[in-house]
Amino acid sequence: MKKLEEYVRSIPDFPEEGIVFRDVTSVLQDKDSLKMSIDQMQSLLDDVDIDVVVGPESRGFIFGVPIAYNLNKAFVPVRKKGKLPCETIEMEYALEYGTATIEMHKDAIKPGQRVAIIDDLIATGGTIEAITKLIESLGGIVVKIIFLMELEGLHGRDKLKGYDVEAVIKYEGK
Ligand code: PRP
Ligand code: MG
Repeated sequence: MKKLEEYVRSIPDFPEEGIVFRDVTSVLQDKDSLKMSIDQMQSLLDDVDIDVVVGPESRGFIFGVPIAYNLNKAFVPVRKKGKLPCETIEMEYALEYGTATIEMHKDAIKPGQRVAIIDDLIATGGTIEAITKLIESLGGIVVKIIFLMELEGLHGRDKLKGYDVEAVIKYEGK
């Protein structure tokens, strides 16, 4: 059987020259790799006590919801600004060019709840760093951060010091 990493399609020079884009759609569109990706990410929570899974729009939803469902836990979406209808908290974070703002409902996390954050990819780490701040401002405790893929050359982990961070597939470069 093919290994999970063999299903990730790599596209050179997308979205710009010098970047190798790691395409998660190629993992999703095969039934074996879809199952492997969720199972392998979920297995990293085997011995972790959590109440809630948090995942960022949009690719974080793809992996976060099935894992929350399988573990019989709640799922909390983090959305790009302007999408959530009730009272929110927001956080700005840096992109390669400019900034972006993400939001979470204020009542989504209760003080003391134990949270696992799940996303498809860590690049610079800016997205997840902002999410840890949102969760903690509501009194949640981030006990685990799980990615399908990590671009080690971008040193995103440096922004997540002190957290338990794991990635299923690691790429040395950017
Ligand atoms: C991508 C990816 C991660 C994030 C990683 O999401 O899905 O969430 O970037 O980058 P970072 O570690 O540098 O913060 P993107 O914001 O492109 O949106 P999408 O999930 O809706 O495609
Ligand atoms: Mg994303």
